[in-house]
Amino acid sequence: MDLAVSPGELSDYAGELIHSRQNVSPRRLVDPGPTPAQLQDMLAAAAAAPDHGQLMPWRFVIVPRNRREQLAEVFGLALLDRDPLASPEQIAKAQEKAHRAPLLMLVVARLGPCEPSISVNERMVSVGCAVQNILLTAHSQSFGSGLTSGQALQSPRLRALFGLTQGEEAVCFINVGTVTRHRMPRLRPEPSSFVSSL
Ligand SMILES: Cc1cc2nc3c(=O)[nH]c(=O)nc-3n(C[C@H](O)[C@H](O)[C@H](O)COP(=O)(O)O)c2cc1C
Repeated sequence: MDLAVSPGELSDYAGELIHSRQNVSPRRLVDPGPTPAQLQDMLAAAAAAPDHGQLMPWRFVIVPRNRREQLAEVFGLALLDRDPLASPEQIAKAQEKAHRAPLLMLVVARLGPCEPSISVNERMVSVGCAVQNILLTAHSQSFGSGLTSGQALQSPRLRALFGLTQGEEAVCFINVGTVTRHRMPRLRPEPSSFVSSL
């Protein structure tokens, strides 16, 4: 494969990109968000993820600003389903989460029966790789990004809003935007803490 940079430069860029990415809370992600072209680059990066059987076991659903209110409503109602005694403040806090980052996108894993038969574990690895490719591309474009999850992802209300079919699972949201305030990156674990030899 012909590369635009030398192997040494590629290794330096990759290392810099991977190690300088950090999870940014959506509270610290503001406008401007990605342009349509930048978003396309992120999605093209997702398509470059390892994908055993080329099943594309993921899909992404963008939540544009004009649909955030609907998501907020679902967040509030999902909280009330779980806790009918939730206070107005707790409901407002749940709803507010729908209005944060400029780009908000639901990650959906497609885990139903498939041909060829690839295990759910393998497909989840593929989903994770696609998500990481998006995060790294956003980071390379100088945006911050963060993942968010929570119990609302399991709510039938959320499943209905996003049109999830049987076998599809809402995994997390990807949030992307301009970072207002950087925090100290977390200390990453030493490889010796997670590798051994047979
Ligand atoms: C599937 C998934 C869901 C996540 N959901 C949340 C979340 O709801 N809230 C949060 O603060 N971080 C969430 N994170 C981000 C992690 O907390 C973050 O990656 C971790 O603290 C390590 O920080 P780093 O990414 O900066 O290395 C999630 C990460 C993954 C992989």
